[in-house]
Amino acid sequence: MDSAVRGSRVRRSILRTRSEPAGTAAVAEPNFLLTDIWYFAMPARALRPGKMKPKTLLGEPVLFGRTDDGEVFGLRDVCPHRGIPLSCGAFDGREVECCYHGWRFGRDGVCTAIPSLVDGQDFDPGRIKVRRYPVREVQGNVWIWMGKSDPDREPPRVPHFGDDRLSDLTLVMPFPCFVDHAVIGLMDPAHGPYVHQSWFWRSRKSAYEKAKAFGPAEAGFAMKRHKPSSNSAAYKMLGGTPETEIRFQLPGVRIEHIEIGDHHVVNLTTVTPVDADTTEVTNQVYWTQAWAGLAKPAIRAMAHIFLKQDRDVVVMQQRGLRHQPTLMLIRDADTQARWYYQLKNAWKRFREGGDGAEFVNPVKETVLRWKS
Ligand code: FES
Ligand SMILES: [Fe+2]
Repeated sequence: MDSAVRGSRVRRSILRTRSEPAGTAAVAEPNFLLTDIWYFAMPARALRPGKMKPKTLLGEPVLFGRTDDGEVFGLRDVCPHRGIPLSCGAFDGREVECCYHGWRFGRDGVCTAIPSLVDGQDFDPGRIKVRRYPVREVQGNVWIWMGKSDPDREPPRVPHFGDDRLSDLTLVMPFPCFVDHAVIGLMDPAHGPYVHQSWFWRSRKSAYEKAKAFGPAEAGFAMKRHKPSSNSAAYKMLGGTPETEIRFQLPGVRIEHIEIGDHHVVNLTTVTPVDADTTEVTNQVYWTQAWAGLAKPAIRAMAHIFLKQDRDVVVMQQRGLRHQPTLMLIRDADTQARWYYQLKNAWKRFREGGDGAEFVNPVKETVLRWKS
């Protein structure tokens, strides 16, 4: 992990251990970034053939590119010669050329040319390599494997839609916080009536008691299929009786699958740390309803308002977090957040466990109750 990420801000916002009074959950999880896992990098549309795009993830500088033949790649954005970002150079659709001394690198990170060499200087450029990150393009999105190991699994996929299907709507928004606050903010069921008040969604008065069944799922947990609350006008607009399943998966992937008769709507939210102080949240929607295309500007506007409400509350929260408060997670409204921290620790143990180690999912089948 980059030293920038292990910096003071991360340590400062540590959630401390506390004893467990009735109904209160303890939190004893130091903040760290998960590695050896797929992170969402960017929508595939952002990467045209023959173009490159630098981006910082987990404090690491990564140069993404797409070759003329359509292949996406990721390289460490630092020239191994004298450290200038490779993104300062040029890309011809096949190789990246450093702007300082013209060394060239293929998409596999191997150096192919050192222009200053003369005849008789038999130095093999192929011995020089830039770090290459495993990347995958799935359902219109680029995922990157951040870690030292090779990928031992595939990136998350949204249900129902095929591998080549692009999302119908994509919103990207930076949140000025450490990744954990963005993740637990997005999975928090109790903030709705306070943070998301708007004419098209709900008011504070519409809160009522809920009981939802949860269970373990792939590197995370799922809120099992259920009929969504009737307190949302947006669902009513869709017509039919919707049924929803919501899955959360490490490191910060939330997939909400709504079935309405023969139709499907999937909401994919991904949370990717840029560094210790900034987190990028991307929200994408896939749908089968043809009419939704016409309503796209309205859906986009609503989704933007919604996501911005989540971000604005995080901006305010940062002002309090500067004073390093001890934070609390209460039952049952904060149980999902608690699972998130437990899952992170379980993943860390799994990755540090060496060969043969298994991921032990700490989530158990249960019904959570809260009012919102
Ligand atoms: S610094 Fe990149 S070629 Fe010299
Ligand atoms: Fe929210």
